[in-house]
Amino acid sequence: MNKIILALDEPLDYKILKDISSQVAGIKIGWPLILEQGLEGIKNILKNFDNNIIFDLKLADIDSTMIKITTHLKNLGDSFIVHAFVGYNESIRELKEFLDKENKKMYLVSSMSHKGWNDNFYPYIKEVIKMTNPYGLVAPATRPKILKTVKKDFPEKIIISPGIGAQGAKIGDALCNGANYEIIGRSIYNSKDPIGTILEFQKIQEERLNEC
Ligand code: C5P
Repeated sequence: MNKIILALDEPLDYKILKDISSQVAGIKIGWPLILEQGLEGIKNILKNFDNNIIFDLKLADIDSTMIKITTHLKNLGDSFIVHAFVGYNESIRELKEFLDKENKKMYLVSSMSHKGWNDNFYPYIKEVIKMTNPYGLVAPATRPKILKTVKKDFPEKIIISPGIGAQGAKIGDALCNGANYEIIGRSIYNSKDPIGTILEFQKIQEERLNEC
């Protein structure tokens, strides 16, 4: 079973990354690694991965700025994570048109995984998601109620879910609550044996999915 997306926010040994690439369903790269490695470093890391490369820049800007940013990265990956709260017109709408043209996918953040996030404005975010019709959504493993709501509202969307391990949710929680994939970072790249950890997590995911 391949339901782990590795959130690589710190570098890992190239040999380990090569072995990991066939074990995970994708890799998520964000600002920490981009700023540390530069684009050339990122290119080298991504040589090991041939699909489902997600850039998590949490884009939240006007259309032309987001299009400029994604233009720099579009040849390196498949998908971009974008904040929904920034709104549709003159922002997400134009970015979506651009990404569609480039055959790239967009994930909208439906809710964050940390305590400070406020889901009171989910009804607004839901409207933006409906207007955008993105490929997928990011919804938190740490907040089962909102994750289930997002799944109910958008059953056809691919849901990727962070918050497992370091942020408190248990392996398999998000899958049981409607996520398609679990995004896991520190619990993997900080472990002594990242590949062994991935294999162990996959076993737990399978067991949990059989129970829920
Ligand atoms: O290390 P950890 O497993 O907590 O990593 C989670 C990853 O998912 C981080 O890269 C974090 O920025 C990202 N993320 C999140 N919550 C969201 C969206 C993305 O934790 N709502």
